[in-house]
Amino acid sequence: MIKKLALSLCFLALLFGAPVFAQDDLLKKEEQLFNQFCSHCHGKHMVNPGTSSFDLRKFPKDDKPRFYESVSKGRGDMPAWGDVLFPEELDLLWHYVKSRAGKEPTAFDSSDASDVTESNEPETVLSSLLITPGTLTACLAKNGGVMSSRRSKGGAGLDYQVALALANGMGLTLAVEWYESEQEEESSPVRESYAMLAYGVCDILPGFALYETSLSAFYKTRAALPRWDNRPDTLTREFQVDLQPLSVSDPYARMEMGVVFRTPEFVRPITRVADLEGLHVGVEQGTLAGVLTLRQGSATLTSEATTLNPGPDFLWKMEQGEFDAALVTVGAYDFHKKQNAISTLVLGDYRHSIGFNLSVAMLKSNRDLLDQIDPLINTMIADGTMAALADKSRLTYSEPRQPWVQTRLTMQDIMMRQ
Ligand code: HEC
Repeated sequence: MIKKLALSLCFLALLFGAPVFAQDDLLKKEEQLFNQFCSHCHGKHMVNPGTSSFDLRKFPKDDKPRFYESVSKGRGDMPAWGDVLFPEELDLLWHYVKSRAGKEPTAFDSSDASDVTESNEPETVLSSLLITPGTLTACLAKNGGVMSSRRSKGGAGLDYQVALALANGMGLTLAVEWYESEQEEESSPVRESYAMLAYGVCDILPGFALYETSLSAFYKTRAALPRWDNRPDTLTREFQVDLQPLSVSDPYARMEMGVVFRTPEFVRPITRVADLEGLHVGVEQGTLAGVLTLRQGSATLTSEATTLNPGPDFLWKMEQGEFDAALVTVGAYDFHKKQNAISTLVLGDYRHSIGFNLSVAMLKSNRDLLDQIDPLINTMIADGTMAALADKSRLTYSEPRQPWVQTRLTMQDIMMRQ
Protein backbone atom coordinates (compact mmCIF):
# COMPACT_ATOMS: atom_id res chain seq x y z
CA MET A 1 0.00 0.00 0.00
CA ILE A 2 2.59 2.51 1.13
CA LYS A 3 4.72 1.58 -1.82
CA LYS A 4 1.89 2.29 -4.24
CA LEU A 5 1.19 5.67 -2.78
CA ALA A 6 4.67 6.66 -3.62
CA LEU A 7 3.57 6.48 -7.20
CA SER A 8 1.79 9.78 -7.32
CA LEU A 9 4.71 11.44 -5.62
CA CYS A 10 7.32 9.94 -7.84
CA PHE A 11 5.29 10.46 -10.91
CA LEU A 12 6.87 13.77 -11.72
CA ALA A 13 10.29 12.37 -11.11
CA LEU A 14 9.62 9.57 -13.54
CA LEU A 15 8.32 11.97 -16.10
CA PHE A 16 11.32 14.08 -15.52
CA GLY A 17 13.60 11.13 -16.05
CA ALA A 18 11.78 10.03 -19.19
CA PRO A 19 13.97 9.59 -22.23
CA VAL A 20 14.33 12.42 -24.64
CA PHE A 21 12.82 12.16 -28.08
CA ALA A 22 12.45 14.56 -30.95
CA GLN A 23 9.25 16.57 -30.91
CA ASP A 24 6.31 14.87 -32.52
CA ASP A 25 4.20 16.60 -35.17
CA LEU A 26 1.83 17.06 -32.30
CA LEU A 27 -0.04 20.14 -33.32
CA LYS A 28 -0.55 19.86 -36.99
CA LYS A 29 -0.57 23.14 -38.79
CA GLU A 30 -3.96 22.38 -40.29
CA GLU A 31 -5.56 21.75 -36.99
CA GLN A 32 -3.96 24.85 -35.53
CA LEU A 33 -5.36 26.99 -38.30
CA PHE A 34 -8.76 25.47 -37.98
CA ASN A 35 -8.77 25.98 -34.23
CA GLN A 36 -7.63 29.54 -34.61
CA PHE A 37 -10.10 30.69 -37.25
CA CYS A 38 -12.91 28.25 -37.70
CA SER A 39 -13.56 26.10 -34.68
CA HIS A 40 -15.44 28.64 -32.59
CA CYS A 41 -18.28 28.45 -35.11
CA HIS A 42 -17.77 25.04 -36.66
CA GLY A 43 -16.73 23.23 -33.52
CA LYS A 44 -13.54 21.53 -32.53
CA HIS A 45 -12.67 18.76 -34.94
CA MET A 46 -15.58 20.09 -37.01
CA VAL A 47 -18.11 18.74 -34.59
CA ASN A 48 -20.36 21.66 -33.95
CA PRO A 49 -22.70 22.03 -31.05
CA GLY A 50 -25.68 21.45 -33.33
CA THR A 51 -26.61 25.10 -33.59
CA SER A 52 -26.51 27.47 -36.51
CA SER A 53 -23.23 26.83 -38.32
CA PHE A 54 -22.73 24.47 -41.15
CA ASP A 55 -21.58 20.93 -40.28
CA LEU A 56 -18.31 20.79 -42.14
CA ARG A 57 -18.09 17.02 -41.95
CA LYS A 58 -20.86 17.06 -44.52
CA PHE A 59 -19.16 19.34 -46.95
CA PRO A 60 -18.83 17.45 -50.25
CA LYS A 61 -15.19 16.49 -50.42
CA ASP A 62 -15.09 16.64 -54.19
CA ASP A 63 -16.28 20.24 -54.36
CA LYS A 64 -13.06 22.13 -53.92
CA PRO A 65 -14.14 25.20 -55.94
CA ARG A 66 -17.16 25.70 -53.74
CA PHE A 67 -14.99 25.54 -50.63
CA TYR A 68 -12.60 28.20 -51.90
CA GLU A 69 -15.45 30.36 -53.09
CA SER A 70 -17.47 30.21 -49.88
CA VAL A 71 -14.55 30.56 -47.54
CA SER A 72 -12.79 33.38 -49.42
CA LYS A 73 -15.88 35.43 -50.12
CA GLY A 74 -18.02 34.48 -47.16
CA ARG A 75 -21.46 32.97 -47.18
CA GLY A 76 -24.61 33.78 -45.23
CA ASP A 77 -23.54 34.55 -41.69
CA MET A 78 -20.00 33.44 -42.31
CA PRO A 79 -17.51 36.24 -42.82
CA ALA A 80 -15.16 36.29 -45.82
CA TRP A 81 -11.72 34.89 -45.11
CA GLY A 82 -10.03 35.90 -48.32
CA ASP A 83 -8.24 38.87 -46.79
CA VAL A 84 -7.38 37.10 -43.59
CA LEU A 85 -5.86 33.87 -44.77
CA PHE A 86 -3.00 33.20 -47.15
CA PRO A 87 -3.74 30.91 -50.10
CA GLU A 88 -1.47 28.26 -48.54
CA GLU A 89 -3.53 28.41 -45.40
CA LEU A 90 -6.70 27.94 -47.39
CA ASP A 91 -5.08 24.89 -48.98
CA LEU A 92 -4.30 23.47 -45.58
CA LEU A 93 -7.83 24.11 -44.38
CA TRP A 94 -9.29 22.50 -47.47
CA HIS A 95 -7.16 19.47 -46.82
CA TYR A 96 -8.29 19.38 -43.22
CA VAL A 97 -11.95 19.71 -44.08
CA LYS A 98 -11.74 17.28 -46.96
CA SER A 99 -10.08 14.59 -44.90
CA ARG A 100 -12.92 14.71 -42.41
CA ALA A 101 -15.77 15.43 -44.76
CA GLY A 102 -17.91 12.77 -46.35
CA LYS A 103 -17.62 10.55 -43.28
CA GLU A 104 -21.24 10.90 -42.41
CA PRO A 105 -23.61 8.39 -43.93
CA THR A 106 -26.41 10.89 -44.55
CA ALA A 107 -26.64 12.67 -47.88
CA PHE A 108 -25.25 16.15 -48.13
CA ASP A 109 -27.80 18.92 -48.12
CA SER A 110 -26.88 22.26 -46.65
CA SER A 111 -30.46 23.52 -46.51
CA ASP A 112 -31.82 20.65 -44.48
CA ALA A 113 -31.53 21.65 -40.86
CA SER A 114 -32.73 18.35 -39.41
CA ASP A 115 -29.99 16.61 -41.28
CA VAL A 116 -27.40 18.59 -39.37
CA THR A 117 -28.85 17.55 -36.04
CA GLU A 118 -28.81 13.91 -36.96
CA SER A 119 -25.09 13.97 -37.57
CA ASN A 120 -24.56 14.56 -33.88
CA GLU A 121 -25.93 11.16 -33.00
CA PRO A 122 -22.96 9.59 -31.22
CA GLU A 123 -24.01 5.95 -30.95
CA THR A 124 -23.21 4.74 -34.46
CA VAL A 125 -19.82 6.40 -34.65
CA LEU A 126 -18.86 5.45 -31.13
CA SER A 127 -19.83 1.81 -30.99
CA SER A 128 -17.30 0.93 -33.65
CA LEU A 129 -14.55 2.50 -31.52
CA LEU A 130 -15.34 0.98 -28.15
CA ILE A 131 -14.05 -2.31 -26.78
CA THR A 132 -17.53 -3.10 -25.47
CA PRO A 133 -20.32 -1.34 -27.39
CA GLY A 134 -22.41 0.87 -25.13
CA THR A 135 -19.66 0.94 -22.50
CA LEU A 136 -16.80 3.34 -21.97
CA THR A 137 -13.97 1.37 -20.40
CA ALA A 138 -11.44 3.42 -18.43
CA CYS A 139 -8.11 2.35 -16.97
CA LEU A 140 -7.64 3.89 -13.52
CA ALA A 141 -5.00 3.42 -10.85
CA LYS A 142 -6.33 1.75 -7.71
CA ASN A 143 -4.07 3.75 -5.49
CA GLY A 144 -3.81 7.04 -7.27
CA GLY A 145 -4.36 9.14 -4.13
CA VAL A 146 -6.79 12.00 -4.64
CA MET A 147 -6.83 11.28 -8.38
CA SER A 148 -8.27 7.77 -8.30
CA SER A 149 -8.97 4.99 -5.86
CA ARG A 150 -11.15 1.93 -5.96
CA ARG A 151 -14.18 1.66 -3.70
CA SER A 152 -16.28 -1.40 -2.93
CA LYS A 153 -18.79 0.20 -5.25
CA GLY A 154 -17.32 2.28 -8.05
CA GLY A 155 -14.44 4.57 -7.27
CA ALA A 156 -13.34 7.97 -6.05
CA GLY A 157 -10.99 10.72 -7.08
CA LEU A 158 -10.98 13.27 -9.86
CA ASP A 159 -9.86 10.89 -12.61
CA TYR A 160 -12.67 8.54 -11.68
CA GLN A 161 -15.20 11.37 -11.59
CA VAL A 162 -14.06 12.60 -14.98
CA ALA A 163 -14.38 9.12 -16.50
CA LEU A 164 -17.87 8.81 -15.06
CA ALA A 165 -18.94 12.23 -16.31
CA LEU A 166 -17.59 11.48 -19.80
CA ALA A 167 -19.42 8.17 -19.97
CA ASN A 168 -22.65 9.85 -18.84
CA GLY A 169 -22.19 12.67 -21.29
CA MET A 170 -21.71 10.19 -24.11
CA GLY A 171 -24.72 8.15 -23.10
CA LEU A 172 -22.54 5.18 -22.18
CA THR A 173 -22.07 3.00 -19.13
CA LEU A 174 -18.72 3.31 -17.37
CA ALA A 175 -16.60 0.23 -16.78
CA VAL A 176 -13.29 0.55 -14.94
CA GLU A 177 -10.21 -1.60 -15.23
CA TRP A 178 -8.38 -0.94 -11.96
CA TYR A 179 -4.65 -1.31 -12.20
CA GLU A 180 -1.76 -1.21 -9.80
CA SER A 181 1.20 0.75 -10.89
CA GLU A 182 4.42 -0.81 -9.79
CA GLN A 183 7.47 1.15 -8.91
CA GLU A 184 10.10 -0.64 -10.86
CA GLU A 185 13.09 0.62 -12.64
CA GLU A 186 12.03 -0.51 -16.08
CA SER A 187 8.46 0.64 -15.84
CA SER A 188 7.00 4.07 -15.59
CA PRO A 189 3.40 5.28 -15.45
CA VAL A 190 3.77 6.61 -18.97
CA ARG A 191 4.92 3.33 -20.46
CA GLU A 192 2.23 1.46 -18.58
CA SER A 193 -0.40 3.78 -19.96
CA TYR A 194 0.78 3.10 -23.48
CA ALA A 195 0.91 -0.63 -22.84
CA MET A 196 -2.62 -0.87 -21.45
CA LEU A 197 -4.14 1.09 -24.31
CA ALA A 198 -2.18 -0.85 -26.92
CA TYR A 199 -3.24 -4.16 -25.37
CA GLY A 200 -6.89 -3.06 -25.47
CA VAL A 201 -7.44 -3.17 -21.71
CA CYS A 202 -9.48 0.03 -21.91
CA ASP A 203 -10.75 2.71 -24.29
CA ILE A 204 -9.53 5.71 -22.33
CA LEU A 205 -6.94 6.46 -19.70
CA PRO A 206 -7.56 9.61 -17.65
CA GLY A 207 -4.75 11.23 -15.68
CA PHE A 208 -2.29 11.29 -18.56
CA ALA A 209 0.16 14.14 -17.99
CA LEU A 210 0.84 16.24 -21.07
CA TYR A 211 4.60 16.20 -21.28
CA GLU A 212 6.35 16.47 -24.60
CA THR A 213 8.46 13.37 -24.20
CA SER A 214 5.47 11.30 -23.09
CA LEU A 215 3.69 12.08 -26.31
CA SER A 216 6.44 11.23 -28.72
CA ALA A 217 8.23 8.11 -29.71
CA PHE A 218 7.16 5.68 -27.00
CA TYR A 219 5.16 3.70 -29.47
CA LYS A 220 8.27 2.61 -31.30
CA THR A 221 9.12 0.41 -28.36
CA ARG A 222 7.55 -2.34 -26.28
CA ALA A 223 6.55 -2.29 -22.66
CA ALA A 224 5.26 -4.57 -19.93
CA LEU A 225 1.71 -4.37 -18.63
CA PRO A 226 0.99 -3.52 -15.02
CA ARG A 227 -1.23 -5.74 -12.89
CA TRP A 228 -4.93 -5.06 -13.23
CA ASP A 229 -7.85 -6.75 -11.56
CA ASN A 230 -8.93 -8.74 -14.61
CA ARG A 231 -5.47 -9.50 -15.90
CA PRO A 232 -5.58 -13.07 -17.29
CA ASP A 233 -3.41 -15.55 -15.37
CA THR A 234 -2.06 -16.83 -18.66
CA LEU A 235 -0.28 -13.56 -19.27
CA THR A 236 3.26 -13.90 -17.99
CA ARG A 237 5.00 -11.10 -16.19
CA GLU A 238 7.56 -10.94 -18.96
CA PHE A 239 4.97 -10.33 -21.66
CA GLN A 240 5.57 -7.13 -23.58
CA VAL A 241 3.20 -5.17 -25.80
CA ASP A 242 4.10 -3.33 -28.99
CA LEU A 243 3.20 0.25 -28.18
CA GLN A 244 1.04 2.34 -30.48
CA PRO A 245 0.66 6.09 -30.90
CA LEU A 246 -1.76 7.82 -28.58
CA SER A 247 -4.02 10.81 -28.89
CA VAL A 248 -4.90 13.01 -25.96
CA SER A 249 -7.90 15.11 -25.07
CA ASP A 250 -7.94 18.72 -24.05
CA PRO A 251 -6.67 18.92 -20.48
CA TYR A 252 -9.09 18.96 -17.55
CA ALA A 253 -6.85 19.84 -14.60
CA ARG A 254 -3.33 20.85 -13.77
CA MET A 255 -0.86 19.10 -11.51
CA GLU A 256 1.20 21.74 -9.74
CA MET A 257 3.83 22.06 -7.07
CA GLY A 258 3.40 24.29 -4.04
CA VAL A 259 5.13 24.96 -0.75
CA VAL A 260 3.80 23.23 2.36
CA PHE A 261 4.60 24.62 5.81
CA ARG A 262 4.64 22.57 9.01
CA THR A 263 2.28 24.84 10.96
CA PRO A 264 0.70 28.26 10.34
CA GLU A 265 3.61 29.88 12.25
CA PHE A 266 6.04 28.95 9.51
CA VAL A 267 3.94 30.29 6.67
CA ARG A 268 5.50 33.18 4.81
CA PRO A 269 4.74 34.73 1.47
CA ILE A 270 7.19 33.54 -1.12
CA THR A 271 7.57 34.08 -4.84
CA ARG A 272 10.37 31.61 -5.44
CA VAL A 273 12.00 28.63 -3.80
CA ALA A 274 14.99 30.66 -2.65
CA ASP A 275 12.67 32.71 -0.42
CA LEU A 276 12.46 29.71 1.89
CA GLU A 277 15.92 30.55 3.22
CA GLY A 278 15.89 30.70 7.00
CA LEU A 279 13.44 27.83 7.27
CA HIS A 280 14.48 24.24 7.76
CA VAL A 281 13.58 22.84 4.36
CA GLY A 282 12.87 19.21 3.48
CA VAL A 283 13.89 17.76 0.13
CA GLU A 284 12.08 14.81 -1.37
CA GLN A 285 14.88 12.97 -3.02
CA GLY A 286 14.68 12.11 -6.69
CA THR A 287 11.45 13.97 -7.39
CA LEU A 288 11.16 16.99 -9.60
CA ALA A 289 10.16 19.07 -6.57
CA GLY A 290 13.28 17.88 -4.77
CA VAL A 291 15.52 18.68 -7.70
CA LEU A 292 14.00 22.14 -8.04
CA THR A 293 14.50 22.83 -4.33
CA LEU A 294 18.17 21.94 -4.53
CA ARG A 295 18.78 23.84 -7.74
CA GLN A 296 16.82 26.97 -6.92
CA GLY A 297 17.52 27.26 -3.20
CA SER A 298 20.43 29.34 -1.95
CA ALA A 299 23.64 27.67 -0.76
CA THR A 300 22.61 28.15 2.88
CA LEU A 301 19.18 26.74 2.27
CA THR A 302 20.45 23.61 0.59
CA SER A 303 23.27 22.95 2.99
CA GLU A 304 20.84 23.06 5.90
CA ALA A 305 18.11 21.08 4.15
CA THR A 306 17.10 17.57 5.17
CA THR A 307 16.93 15.10 2.31
CA LEU A 308 14.52 12.19 2.67
CA ASN A 309 13.28 9.29 0.57
CA PRO A 310 10.30 10.02 -1.61
CA GLY A 311 6.90 8.70 -0.62
CA PRO A 312 3.96 9.40 1.67
CA ASP A 313 6.27 9.28 4.70
CA PHE A 314 7.76 12.53 3.57
CA LEU A 315 4.88 14.72 4.70
CA TRP A 316 4.46 12.69 7.90
CA LYS A 317 8.07 13.48 8.71
CA MET A 318 7.26 17.14 8.36
CA GLU A 319 4.27 16.68 10.62
CA GLN A 320 6.63 15.18 13.21
CA GLY A 321 8.89 18.20 13.04
CA GLU A 322 11.81 16.90 11.01
CA PHE A 323 11.62 20.00 8.83
CA ASP A 324 9.39 23.04 8.45
CA ALA A 325 8.75 23.63 4.77
CA ALA A 326 9.00 21.80 1.46
CA LEU A 327 8.08 22.07 -2.19
CA VAL A 328 5.78 19.14 -3.06
CA THR A 329 3.06 18.29 -5.56
CA VAL A 330 -0.21 19.77 -4.45
CA GLY A 331 -1.90 16.39 -4.95
CA ALA A 332 0.45 14.82 -2.40
CA TYR A 333 -0.50 17.48 0.11
CA ASP A 334 -4.21 16.96 -0.59
CA PHE A 335 -3.83 13.24 -0.10
CA HIS A 336 -1.94 13.70 3.15
CA LYS A 337 -4.65 16.03 4.49
CA LYS A 338 -7.31 13.56 3.51
CA GLN A 339 -5.54 10.82 5.45
CA ASN A 340 -4.76 12.88 8.47
CA ALA A 341 -7.68 14.83 9.87
CA ILE A 342 -5.60 16.55 12.55
CA SER A 343 -2.74 17.57 10.32
CA THR A 344 -1.19 20.97 11.05
CA LEU A 345 0.33 21.33 7.58
CA VAL A 346 -0.56 24.40 5.55
CA LEU A 347 -0.32 24.83 1.79
CA GLY A 348 0.91 28.30 0.84
CA ASP A 349 -0.36 30.30 -2.14
CA TYR A 350 2.81 30.00 -4.18
CA ARG A 351 2.76 27.63 -7.16
CA HIS A 352 5.82 26.70 -9.15
CA SER A 353 5.43 27.64 -12.80
CA ILE A 354 6.42 24.16 -13.95
CA GLY A 355 3.34 22.00 -13.97
CA PHE A 356 1.62 19.33 -15.99
CA ASN A 357 -1.85 19.45 -17.47
CA LEU A 358 -3.81 16.23 -17.17
CA SER A 359 -5.73 14.81 -20.08
CA VAL A 360 -7.48 11.67 -21.22
CA ALA A 361 -5.38 9.38 -23.43
CA MET A 362 -6.61 6.90 -26.01
CA LEU A 363 -5.15 5.12 -29.02
CA LYS A 364 -4.66 7.42 -31.94
CA SER A 365 -6.82 5.07 -33.98
CA ASN A 366 -9.62 5.98 -31.58
CA ARG A 367 -9.16 9.70 -31.80
CA ASP A 368 -12.70 10.18 -33.09
CA LEU A 369 -13.70 9.75 -29.44
CA LEU A 370 -12.33 13.24 -28.97
CA ASP A 371 -15.28 14.64 -30.89
CA GLN A 372 -17.32 13.73 -27.83
CA ILE A 373 -14.73 14.03 -25.09
CA ASP A 374 -13.23 17.45 -25.77
CA PRO A 375 -16.50 19.38 -25.80
CA LEU A 376 -17.58 17.62 -22.60
CA ILE A 377 -14.33 18.48 -20.84
CA ASN A 378 -14.42 22.10 -21.93
CA THR A 379 -18.02 22.51 -20.87
CA MET A 380 -17.28 20.98 -17.48
CA ILE A 381 -14.41 23.38 -16.92
CA ALA A 382 -16.40 26.40 -18.09
CA ASP A 383 -19.51 25.72 -16.03
CA GLY A 384 -17.65 24.84 -12.84
CA THR A 385 -18.48 21.13 -12.87
CA MET A 386 -14.82 20.18 -12.97
CA ALA A 387 -13.97 22.31 -9.95
CA ALA A 388 -16.94 20.78 -8.12
CA LEU A 389 -15.77 17.26 -8.95
CA ALA A 390 -12.30 18.12 -7.67
CA ASP A 391 -13.82 19.50 -4.51
CA LYS A 392 -15.74 16.29 -4.02
CA SER A 393 -12.42 14.45 -4.35
CA ARG A 394 -10.84 16.85 -1.81
CA LEU A 395 -8.39 18.06 -4.35
CA THR A 396 -7.08 21.60 -4.62
CA TYR A 397 -8.20 22.26 -8.17
CA SER A 398 -6.12 24.15 -10.72
CA GLU A 399 -7.46 24.72 -14.18
CA PRO A 400 -5.22 23.65 -17.04
CA ARG A 401 -2.88 26.35 -18.25
CA GLN A 402 -1.29 27.01 -21.63
CA PRO A 403 0.83 25.68 -23.13
CA TRP A 404 -1.20 22.50 -22.93
CA VAL A 405 1.87 20.35 -23.41
CA GLN A 406 4.83 20.99 -21.13
CA THR A 407 7.89 21.01 -23.32
CA ARG A 408 10.82 18.86 -22.36
CA LEU A 409 12.44 20.39 -19.31
CA THR A 410 15.92 21.66 -19.91
CA MET A 411 18.62 22.40 -17.38
CA GLN A 412 17.80 26.04 -17.99
CA ASP A 413 14.19 25.42 -16.83
CA ILE A 414 15.38 23.57 -13.76
CA MET A 415 17.70 26.39 -12.79
CA MET A 416 15.64 29.39 -13.78
CA ARG A 417 11.91 28.74 -13.86
CA GLN A 418 10.44 29.84 -10.57
C1 HEC B 1 -18.45 33.50 -37.29
C2 HEC B 1 -18.72 32.09 -37.43
C3 HEC B 1 -17.96 31.36 -38.51
C4 HEC B 1 -16.60 31.24 -38.63
C5 HEC B 1 -15.53 31.82 -37.71
C6 HEC B 1 -16.38 30.36 -39.76
N1 HEC B 1 -17.56 29.99 -40.31
FE1 HEC B 1 -17.81 28.79 -41.92
N2 HEC B 1 -19.80 29.02 -41.80
C7 HEC B 1 -20.47 29.76 -40.85
C8 HEC B 1 -21.89 29.73 -41.12
C9 HEC B 1 -22.97 30.40 -40.28
C10 HEC B 1 -22.04 28.96 -42.28
C11 HEC B 1 -23.33 28.67 -43.02
C12 HEC B 1 -23.45 29.72 -44.10
C13 HEC B 1 -24.73 29.63 -44.86
O1 HEC B 1 -24.84 28.71 -45.70
O2 HEC B 1 -25.59 30.47 -44.61
C14 HEC B 1 -20.70 28.53 -42.68
C15 HEC B 1 -20.46 27.76 -43.77
C16 HEC B 1 -19.21 27.27 -44.11
C17 HEC B 1 -18.95 26.40 -45.25
C18 HEC B 1 -19.96 25.86 -46.23
C19 HEC B 1 -20.14 26.86 -47.30
C20 HEC B 1 -21.01 26.30 -48.40
O3 HEC B 1 -20.57 26.39 -49.54
O4 HEC B 1 -22.11 25.80 -48.09
C21 HEC B 1 -17.62 26.16 -45.26
C22 HEC B 1 -16.86 25.30 -46.25
C23 HEC B 1 -17.04 26.89 -44.14
N3 HEC B 1 -18.03 27.56 -43.49
C24 HEC B 1 -15.70 26.87 -43.83
C25 HEC B 1 -15.15 27.68 -42.84
C26 HEC B 1 -13.73 27.74 -42.60
C27 HEC B 1 -12.65 26.96 -43.33
C28 HEC B 1 -13.56 28.63 -41.58
C29 HEC B 1 -12.24 29.09 -40.96
C30 HEC B 1 -11.36 29.79 -41.87
C31 HEC B 1 -14.87 29.08 -41.19
N4 HEC B 1 -15.81 28.48 -41.98
C32 HEC B 1 -15.11 29.98 -40.18
C33 HEC B 1 -19.91 30.43 -39.78
C34 HEC B 1 -18.54 30.57 -39.58
